[in-house]
Amino acid sequence: MPELDSPQRQTPDSLMLTGFWYRAIPADRVHRNQLHKAMLLEIPLVVGRDRAGHPFALRDSCPHRGMPLHCGQFDGEELECSYHGWKFDVHDGQCQLIPSLTSDQKLRVDRIYAGSYPCEEQDGFIWVYVPEPAPAGAGVAKPTSAPDPAPQVQKFSDKYKLAYLTADMPVSVDHGIIGLMDPAHGPFVHQAWWWRSRHSIHEKQKNFEPIPNGFRMSAHTPSSNSVPYKLLRLYSAADSITTTIDFVLPNMRSEIIRAGKYWFSSLTTVTPITRNHCRIDVVAAWNIFNWVPFASELLKFVFAKFVEQDRRTMELQAEGLKHNPHLMLIDDADRPAKWYFQLKAAHLEAKRTGQEMKHPMAGPVTLKWRS
Ligand code: FES
Ligand SMILES: [Fe+2]
Repeated sequence: MPELDSPQRQTPDSLMLTGFWYRAIPADRVHRNQLHKAMLLEIPLVVGRDRAGHPFALRDSCPHRGMPLHCGQFDGEELECSYHGWKFDVHDGQCQLIPSLTSDQKLRVDRIYAGSYPCEEQDGFIWVYVPEPAPAGAGVAKPTSAPDPAPQVQKFSDKYKLAYLTADMPVSVDHGIIGLMDPAHGPFVHQAWWWRSRHSIHEKQKNFEPIPNGFRMSAHTPSSNSVPYKLLRLYSAADSITTTIDFVLPNMRSEIIRAGKYWFSSLTTVTPITRNHCRIDVVAAWNIFNWVPFASELLKFVFAKFVEQDRRTMELQAEGLKHNPHLMLIDDADRPAKWYFQLKAAHLEAKRTGQEMKHPMAGPVTLKWRS
């Protein structure tokens, strides 16, 4: 009997993992001396760039009376709240001025902070580190620092092109991530005359191995129906093409395809915005096709089409999920999704007990499915 799982329902507080970097907003949307609203893990943020171009992220709530700080005035250095004019340093959130104080009043202004978040620009996105526990909105939450720098798209040469795609999806981060690692929807969702039809379904076998905080589809010759692969085979004339796909908590899928000196690398994230809403961001870097006219346009077109098909599917799925249906994960096609839930549970358990995380995979595993 094939194993059949009961619903994998997640409790709301385990939905969104703190203590990680998340992509907040595409960097090209954030200009100097300007403020933008953003939301991560149900935390409202104001994101901006100072006069020198350095990004910052603050909780979008004044510690005085909760006024959204993005409504304030920003001179490229300090942010002035629009309600009573309190001023804050945008990088550490420290209060600089309370206009209503008289000269004999001794309130320690410098002990008041608007919550600030570690913030970095990396590969076309502003990343924000969401610490645990999330700093309280009001009062004296001092800035925290991140244990590691923000994740990067892996690159294998000095010269490369970089592009991103982003799409909002009205489902929880878990459904977004399952969609990302689900091999069985390809022939049904991603049909196109120039791509593949559902008649191209065939049996596949892939090896997986545990890696820290995640799992890897071991290096293999990529499936003949992956887009960059088709293009790469066409242009690189390399005799060996290998691809490696990693999934790492909380939300990252990286795919690296190498063919001789040519490479294509992507880092896709599914970011929790609220518990019922996530966003997929694909950032790709490559050093191929530079001499082919319109090749990057073609690549972007193909990826945009894919992401749009996934987004549309999740929009429809959200309809069905409204009524809390029972769901199931089947072997082997949904095994990566099971690992994801197990990794998440193991991570939370390790945090709870303070012990090292117990990886759900004991060793390499071969999975088979038709897609
Ligand atoms: S609410 Fe911001 S200064 Fe009063
Ligand atoms: Fe898809």
